Parts: sequence; C-alpha cells; structure tokens
Amino acid sequence: MTSSVYVVSIDPQASTVWWADRITDLPFDFSQEHETPENLKVLQDLPAKVHVVCNQKGGVGKTTSTLNLGAVVSNVLNGQNRGLQHVFIDTPGSLQDENLLLKALAVADDVIVPMPPEPLAFDPTARTIEKVVQPTGLPYRVVINNWDPRDGVVDLEQTKEYIDAKAWPRAQTVLRRYKVHTRAAAEGQVVTQYPKNRVAMEAREDFFRLALELGYGGQS
Ligand SMILES: Nc1ncnc2c1ncn2[C@@H]1O[C@H](COP(=O)(O)OP(=O)(O)OP(=O)(O)O)[C@@H](O)[C@H]1O
Ligand SMILES: [Mg+2]
Repeated sequence: MTSSVYVVSIDPQASTVWWADRITDLPFDFSQEHETPENLKVLQDLPAKVHVVCNQKGGVGKTTSTLNLGAVVSNVLNGQNRGLQHVFIDTPGSLQDENLLLKALAVADDVIVPMPPEPLAFDPTARTIEKVVQPTGLPYRVVINNWDPRDGVVDLEQTKEYIDAKAWPRAQTVLRRYKVHTRAAAEGQVVTQYPKNRVAMEAREDFFRLALELGYGGQS
C-alpha cells in the first residue's frame, strides 16, 4: 500500500539522511534529492499537496518540523488507502543553496517557515520571506518553534509582535521546546514513536495541533 505521506530532503548538508538512516521504521516514504532536484518536477502532476518547509537561517527547526509533520499526518492518514496525499520538502538552511529552494517552491502548494522566538532570527527570516517566499505568491505560514515555556512569554510575545507587524501569516500553534525532540535525532525517532509519557504526549500534541491548524488532515 502506498504511504499517504512522502518526505523529501533537498538539503545537501543531509542531516535528514543521517536521521533517516537511523530510523528503522519510518512511517512515511522518504528520499534525498539535493543532487537530483529535477526529480521534484513529477510532484507537480500528482494530486498530493506539496508543502515546502524553509528558512535560510540554519538550525531553526526545518528538519524537525518536516519529519514530525510527516509523522503525524501519516499517523492519521495511513491506512485510508487513498494513495499519496501530502509531500513535505525539507530545504537547506543557507543562502548558498537558494537555487535548490527555488526548485522546491516551483512545485509547492504552500510554504511553512519555522522561526525560533529569538531576535537574532528576525532579520534572516525576513530575508527568506520577503526575497524568496513572497515573490512566489504561494500561501505561507510562519510557525514559531523551539519556545521554552520556562523562559516565560516575553520572547514569545516579542516574536509574535514582530511577525504581526510584518503582516506575515502566523500559525496559532507554537511548537514548544522539548528535550525529547533534541534527543530524538540521536535516537532515530519521530514524534509518533516517542514513549508514552506525559512530556512526550505534549511534545507530540504540538505537531498534531499544527497539522490540524494547517488543514493537513483527511479529505471529505
Ligand atoms: N521544538 C524543539 N524542541 C527541542 N529541540 C528542537 C526543537 N526544534 C529543533 N530542535 C533542535 O534544534 C536543532 C536544530 O533543529 P533542526 O535540525 O530541525 O533545524 P534546521 O532548520 O533543519 O537546521 P539546518 O538549517 O541546519 O538544516 C536540532 O538539534 C533539533 O533537535
Ligand atoms: Mg535541517
């Protein structure tokens, strides 16, 4: 049976490959295409929706968001036997590989821009959105990632204000910082494979909420 979700990485740094190699039982199809970005063109002709996760600032949570959105969406949709429904593309966190990013955007239906609640991330994120994402005319959403509730709400509120002042569409769902996400890479796990304890459930819930908010559930 075809998986409902396909995750593609076009990041030459290929941290996803390293991660995917360690996941024994990925809940979605996965491939690395940075050397063959022309392969992305076939995605255009599929009925599946293509979501590009991008921010040319490194380390903002693109790979974490891509794999875990892929995990929760396939958790809901696998077994429906409706074929491939969602494609998530993880992209490079650098300005050098802008051509690769543009190739992904050329086949996209929408764009997700993860951003941490840190002033240092503001300008680089603005560059990606204003110079690369907005010119495509694609719908996009900024998602605040890696907020630690123990730090209080000041940085979070400042980041929301910054995004809103720019009039960028912002996801209501905030992806919280959890150690379990940071360790997951080393342990080769996606959220749907986390142990069944309270913290892991909360961590997982963020991605289910985000997928629901973004409308990546089933079709009627
Ligand atoms: N919500 C989170 N909670 C805890 N750790 C997180 C969270 N989001 C990301 N991280 C950690 O931050 C680091 C960077 O995340 P990630 O690799 O997803 O970013 P990226 O944007 O893909 O980076 P790059 O630009 O290098 O590809 C990783 O160690 C990851 O585990
Ligand atoms: Mg990455």
